[in-house]
Amino acid sequence: MPCTSHCSAGPEDRAEVTRTLPGRQTRAVDVLISPSILASDFVNLEQELARIGAADFAHVDVMDNHFVPNLTLGLPVVERIVRVSPVPVDTHLMIDDPDRWAPEYAEAGAASVTFHAEAARAPVRLARELRRLGARAGLALKPATPVEGFVDLLPEIDMLLLMTVEPGFGGQEFLDAVLPKIRRARAAVSAAGLDVWLQVDGGVSGSTIERAAEAGANVFVAGTAVYGADDAAGAIGTLRDLARSAHHH
Ligand code: DX5
Ligand code: ZN
Repeated sequence: MPCTSHCSAGPEDRAEVTRTLPGRQTRAVDVLISPSILASDFVNLEQELARIGAADFAHVDVMDNHFVPNLTLGLPVVERIVRVSPVPVDTHLMIDDPDRWAPEYAEAGAASVTFHAEAARAPVRLARELRRLGARAGLALKPATPVEGFVDLLPEIDMLLLMTVEPGFGGQEFLDAVLPKIRRARAAVSAAGLDVWLQVDGGVSGSTIERAAEAGANVFVAGTAVYGADDAAGAIGTLRDLARSAHHH
């Protein structure tokens, strides 16, 4: 396939990009901000992505109207997002049968591909396939899914996503009930001596991010809090500062 300056990297190049992502060589407690484009204007995605150049990732919520009662976008749109996004793309697949579909998002050039534990048939096989394709492998847990059953799988993944709302919609209230699970997950990652990132997603804002950071999260998804702000870059900077100071507290 002919490649122009706008062409995304091939699989080998992509693996290199993934290895040099911000924070890849640094400690797991580094703060990373991943604004969710679910709260953006879908008709103007290119401009909306340009607003979050100060972030570490662009969080893209893929929903299939089966795993969650909502429908967003799929592979053809993600392929375009990867090409125009100013920052690496962090895909969150809220879909049935990720074993079948998730590898295609890695092949499309997503830097990170997160699938749900509740939907995966063979999570270890799938995580290994995503890594083989050059993506970071993420495992997501809904609020009621205990982390304990997945502790032995931590070496197989690059990120654990602990949902702080029931997946499906933006603009919901942060669930404090998940905070103890974040603490237990951070303790498990530390005990294993791993550099697995802990992502929180749902209701993350200037008034909740410190609690999540204090509990041990280091990757923060924020939809409404970033895209609802007039100054998205300013909102990203504020969230980053709040989380950093909570880590140093
Ligand atoms: C919810 C999605 C989230 C959502 C977060 O199922 O996974 O990424 O966009 O939106 P806010 O930050 O508005 O709660
Ligand atoms: Zn999400």
